[in-house]
Amino acid sequence: MKTRILKELKEAGDYISGQELCEKLQVSRTAVWKHIKALREEGYRIDSVTNKGYKLLDSPDSITAEEIGSDLDTEWLGRNLRYYETIDSTNLEIRRLAEEGAPHGTTAVAEEQTSGKGRRGRSWLGKAGCGIWMSFLLRPQIAVENSSMLTLITALAVEKAVGEETGLQCQIKWPNDIIVNGKKLCGILTELSAQMDELNYVVVGIGINANMQEFPDDLRDKATSLRIETGETVKRASLAAKVLKYFEAYYEKFVKTEDLSAFADEYNRLLVHMNRKIRVIRGSGEDFYISRGINDKGELMVEDDAGKKSVVLSGEVSVRGVLGYV
Ligand code: BTN
Repeated sequence: MKTRILKELKEAGDYISGQELCEKLQVSRTAVWKHIKALREEGYRIDSVTNKGYKLLDSPDSITAEEIGSDLDTEWLGRNLRYYETIDSTNLEIRRLAEEGAPHGTTAVAEEQTSGKGRRGRSWLGKAGCGIWMSFLLRPQIAVENSSMLTLITALAVEKAVGEETGLQCQIKWPNDIIVNGKKLCGILTELSAQMDELNYVVVGIGINANMQEFPDDLRDKATSLRIETGETVKRASLAAKVLKYFEAYYEKFVKTEDLSAFADEYNRLLVHMNRKIRVIRGSGEDFYISRGINDKGELMVEDDAGKKSVVLSGEVSVRGVLGYV
């Protein structure tokens, strides 16, 4: 109910009478008043004037289910939304919920992660108050081998949402890093549960560095945040809701073809290392290539010094610039 009141206040943009709220939400005046009081206690500034009603003056930068829910414009993604003040990892939580039978689109967001997971066994810093740490559950009816492309459409959804929310132009480092001014803004971790050639479910985890003003020494040269890049605090919930909106739209398009034919051109336009020399780091060593962009299967097409063409699969590698991170 709090989410619905918040949504009405946001949509009104001006004073909305207690009576109108009661009628729209089919609750008593006392119930409306109780929820307004609870919202104020959470940091929402809500003015109330006799004969005019309530007006939302300001929202805190919180990422609670109410705050995201009141901005949400999706059919199914994030409609079952769980918020945690602290959790080990939202990816782990979505796995647990999936095993209990949670529906397609279930989403977990956390203020803080204590064991955030990154790609290739690395950890991910999940400090409280400054990031968007969010994962969602998909139960797609697609071939297992096509599921890695979900990571690439997630990157496109984040790029679009960040651009719309902040005006920043991001780039993508294949397969799944979002880059601004040569530094990493967001990482994506897609995990699967599959049996033989049957997909049970997919967990997509997104970590966006939103409002941190600095990073530890070991990350300072390669990580950035929206706050650092724009000089302003972003409303995390609004950005998270936009990411969910764009992901849902791209997903619906993707599952029709199970390839990236509708997305590859846009993805390659945003690719930070398009037609540049890259280092491909595999478990055993590294190789140098020219990156030629992705194909419709989401593989990175590359060329070696002798002009020999091949493709790189996303599961196996990290890509770097020749001299540094990008
Ligand atoms: C990477 O670039 O290595 C991927 C980082 C993914 C981090 C996000 S934060 C939300 C979700 N929960 C996790 O434990 N990891 C992902």
